[in-house]
Amino acid sequence: MPDEQPKGTDYLASTFNTPETATEAALRPLSFSDFTGQAKTVERLQVMVGAAKRRGDALNHILLSGPPGLGKTTLSFILGHELGKQVRVTSGPVVEKASDLAGLLTSLEEGDLLFIDEIHRIPKTVEEYLYTAMEDFRLDIMIDQGPNARSVRLSIPKFTLVGATTRSGLLTAPLRSRFTLQTRLDYYDVATLSGIVKRSCGLLEVEIDEAGAKEIAGRSRGTPRIANNLINFVRDYAQERADGKINRNVASKALELLEIDARGLDEMDKRIMRIMAENYKGGPVGLGTVAIAVGEEADTLEEVHEPFLIQEGYLQRTPQGRTLTAKAYQALGLKGYSEQTDLL
Ligand SMILES: Nc1ncnc2c1ncn2[C@@H]1O[C@H](COP(=O)(O)OP(=O)(O)OP(=O)(O)O)[C@@H](O)[C@H]1O
Ligand SMILES: [Mg+2]
Repeated sequence: MPDEQPKGTDYLASTFNTPETATEAALRPLSFSDFTGQAKTVERLQVMVGAAKRRGDALNHILLSGPPGLGKTTLSFILGHELGKQVRVTSGPVVEKASDLAGLLTSLEEGDLLFIDEIHRIPKTVEEYLYTAMEDFRLDIMIDQGPNARSVRLSIPKFTLVGATTRSGLLTAPLRSRFTLQTRLDYYDVATLSGIVKRSCGLLEVEIDEAGAKEIAGRSRGTPRIANNLINFVRDYAQERADGKINRNVASKALELLEIDARGLDEMDKRIMRIMAENYKGGPVGLGTVAIAVGEEADTLEEVHEPFLIQEGYLQRTPQGRTLTAKAYQALGLKGYSEQTDLL
């Protein structure tokens, strides 16, 4: 529904490395008032937007970090919408050369936003050009080679860089320090997520009751994108197997058919916990060891999986390493939890 996109925002579909679905775009909140949860981040952004508008100045550079599907892209479009500025979208791996960056930056107008998704994946050679662009709004590009090589200085409009990353730990210190605001999105609690589920159902014109919304929210791993995906299937199920309305019974039957965990745990969450329980007696065990055992990078475990497991009380971080809680053993249906682990 292109007419529902924020005004003045261009969706450069070709630069998205993961093209979003029509439903995802349709359900995306367009203003702060439409966006629930992430209270701290939203307030920080509102303060900055308010001040920038009052001064007629460009917004300072912003880094949004946090696990996938929590609203980083959404917030960057909201920023553009609230400021009445354009948002150009690209992603770290797509900006391969300094000239790609120059092309993007010179196409901006004063006060526009450049959204770089997965900014931790921007090549190091390009990253250095970004430093002067962010600080002094200029680019010194080398043209030609050998004896003819010379540097050309390009002035660029005063723009705002909005960087998004699921892996803030991988950002270099010089790049990170050039963002005035660094803010992290957290998983949503069930109550907030229920509200998002009801909002999405309203937009999709599906009837849902409180208990049905809670059932979907509880199985969404604290993530609005997962909630919206589940709604799609539950809606189909309600149409085919019930009277088209979503209540707890319909939602739970539909999600059982999808084999979605009642607690919202995904395959990797369960693998992490199972390996810790079975091979390391529930810990304490170092993150690096768990990472090798499950075949994933330690950074990904720390930034994508662990926060949810800790928030929900399945895992604890101790000075000696990670330990499983009784709740984790229950979730896995395992016996053998010793009270000892809790004391460490
Ligand atoms: N607070 C919110 N309220 C309502 N819907 C939301 C909210 N946050 C996210 N969503 C929905 O979740 C979907 C995913 O959000 P978004 O694309 O912004 O996530 P992301 O953090 O950019 O993820 P990724 O790291 O994978 O790029 C969007 O389609 C949006 O509709
Ligand atoms: Mg995104």
